[in-house]
Amino acid sequence: MKFIRTAALLIAAFTLLCAALTSCDITVPDETTGTTYVSPVITSPTPETIAPLDPITDGETTVPDETVTETTAEITTEGTTAPPVTESETTTKAIENPLGFKVDLSAYEKYMDPADKDAYLILVNPSNPVGKDYKPTDLEPLVDTRSDRSKRYMRLYAAMSLEAFLKEARANGCKNVTVTSAYRSYDSQKEIFDGDVEKLMKKGYSKEEAIAIERKDTAYPGESEHQTGLAVDMHNMSSAQQAFANTYEAQWLAENCWKFGFILRYMPDKEDITTYVYEPWHFRYVGRYHAQRIYELHMCLEEYIEYLENNP
Ligand code: DAL
Ligand code: ZN
Repeated sequence: MKFIRTAALLIAAFTLLCAALTSCDITVPDETTGTTYVSPVITSPTPETIAPLDPITDGETTVPDETVTETTAEITTEGTTAPPVTESETTTKAIENPLGFKVDLSAYEKYMDPADKDAYLILVNPSNPVGKDYKPTDLEPLVDTRSDRSKRYMRLYAAMSLEAFLKEARANGCKNVTVTSAYRSYDSQKEIFDGDVEKLMKKGYSKEEAIAIERKDTAYPGESEHQTGLAVDMHNMSSAQQAFANTYEAQWLAENCWKFGFILRYMPDKEDITTYVYEPWHFRYVGRYHAQRIYELHMCLEEYIEYLENNP
């Protein structure tokens, strides 16, 4: 009897346990609220619901954009990395001394490289004379006039550029280069020309012969670019001689003149075009823009003016 009662109790307990377990399959109490939790409906995202990725950030990680990433560091030949140089630093340095002058010529820059780059391109030669009364209105005295000469003058921009030219020439070892001639009026050109013709005639040349010889060295009045106030004669000899060409000074002046806006006007291999013999002492101001091009093209001014007309 005792066995039957124990078995009945076990069956009842088993039945109650099964009923409790069956109820667990349906709901789970929410631990935080105590309310019944119902699983949400989960759907897959469609293309329209995906937000575009930020081009710079991907979630919490910053991603560099390859199209804008750049390094300013330079790898030197030794394999070390030089410190980055910003664009503003390089620009400042370039403006300060682009041509590597030894002297600080920054105050002269606007004269050497005039804003109006075509203002000083006038061509004066036997085919393009100026009138008897042609005289520039902006002539200035030159600080480098030879001490035993009366004061020489050039147009303002040419005078200032020449001052810079000779400062830098001296800093580069050019000794005793001074100005012997610059602006010449029509009358002073005539005086020089007529005086030399007279000397030649005294040597036995006819007037025609004397004029022909003189015209190779000295422009006929009205045909000299000295009358423009843009030409200068300078050297370190007792008088203008072609031997000056063999000096260090003449070579430095010829190679560097363009930096200051000047050209060597009468070159040895251009005599047929200019009609004048080689004058290593005669420089002509045109401004740096054209002077550099004339130098690089190795043209005389006549050729360059024609070149510009054909290549506007
Ligand atoms: N000696 C140059 C050509 C002049 O007289 O202008
Ligand atoms: Zn001259």
